[in-house]
Amino acid sequence: MNLKFAKRIEELPPYLFARLDKLRREKEAEGVDVISLGIGDPDLPTPNEVIEKLASAAQIPSHHRYNDSGLSSFRQAISEWYKERFEVVLDPQDEIVPLIGSKEGIAHLPLALVNPGDYVIVPDPGYPVYSIGAQLLGGKVHSMQLRPDYGWTPDFSTIPQEVAAKAKMLWINYPNNPTAAAGSDRVFEQAIEFGLNNDVVICQDAAYSEVTFDGWRPSSILNHKGAQDCCIEFHSLSKTYNMTGWRLGWAAGNVSVVEAIARVKSNIDSGAFAAIEEAGIAALQLDDSWILARNNILQNRRDKVVSALRSIGLNPEVPSASLYVWTPCPSGLDSSAFAARLIEEIGVLVTPGIGFGSNGDSHFRISLTTSDELLEAALDRIIDLPSQ
Ligand SMILES: Cc1ncc(COP(=O)(O)O)c(C=O)c1O
Repeated sequence: MNLKFAKRIEELPPYLFARLDKLRREKEAEGVDVISLGIGDPDLPTPNEVIEKLASAAQIPSHHRYNDSGLSSFRQAISEWYKERFEVVLDPQDEIVPLIGSKEGIAHLPLALVNPGDYVIVPDPGYPVYSIGAQLLGGKVHSMQLRPDYGWTPDFSTIPQEVAAKAKMLWINYPNNPTAAAGSDRVFEQAIEFGLNNDVVICQDAAYSEVTFDGWRPSSILNHKGAQDCCIEFHSLSKTYNMTGWRLGWAAGNVSVVEAIARVKSNIDSGAFAAIEEAGIAALQLDDSWILARNNILQNRRDKVVSALRSIGLNPEVPSASLYVWTPCPSGLDSSAFAARLIEEIGVLVTPGIGFGSNGDSHFRISLTTSDELLEAALDRIIDLPSQ
């Protein structure tokens, strides 16, 4: 049989982390003991209260049925969390939509907004799903350069007028992956101004808003004037509560956009497992001290990574949030060449910045989601890396 796939899938690049995982397996097959500092997938455990809640909620027979639009108690818990954390008031039914992990909603939102030929504006460097979601639908991607001299934030005035006129969505992501940039209220305000002036939906991905260091805490874009007219904010339990495998998140904001995502989803999925949403409620109701203690562990790792990299003459940016340390490559090497050197010579896998867009090619990313023991072993290898 001659299987013929759709053009859109043939044009799709393999997912960045699938490629890196393949590289790791190939090296391991050659006998190299690889330590991966690649993907941002927390090694630390999900809180006990959450696991216990799942176990008891799984015993409830009504939870075994379809849960299309999500438990109203989960929506309510999200709304209370927003009020407490950001002082933002959201209607649980109309301004919040639960997601099966935020990646699901990020990839599906263009189905509601983008016609073939419309532009989606994405940050470069940026999380690859923003552009892939658009490309799958025949949308055009405009790469918006994040400027290192602006703390890896965009200059919205450089977006060409013809792109702005045909754009439906613009993505921002603070705290940022991969650059770990904190962002600022100024960026949120400028994004909202751009959205309102050009009838573009501003999508803020807040997956890392709770992974913060040195006592810093970001605000929500929904705190800002005009946001309810043009913004949607994505959150995830994945990084906030070490729950990547559970697949739970939500989007919140503009009523029409929330309704549109819900309409798309009602046609292609049937909601998350209700017992997982019950566990999600337990997570959202945890005391802040749990997050603080977890962030302290990550902050400690951040400090170790920064000091090891400095000891070999590299100059990482010290992040105040996210799971990553973003560092310029040694001079003369692009990110693929430096990442290749690390895996070939010392068996350490890092993510080359080019995987997030051409504007990331000068940097590489280290993830803080490896146990302290393995992280220290990887850093020892990096410290001993022979100089060129
Ligand atoms: C910026 C960003 N947004 C969203 C996600 C997806 O998270 P989730 O597990 O909620 O799908 C990730 C995962 O790495 C991410 O880095």
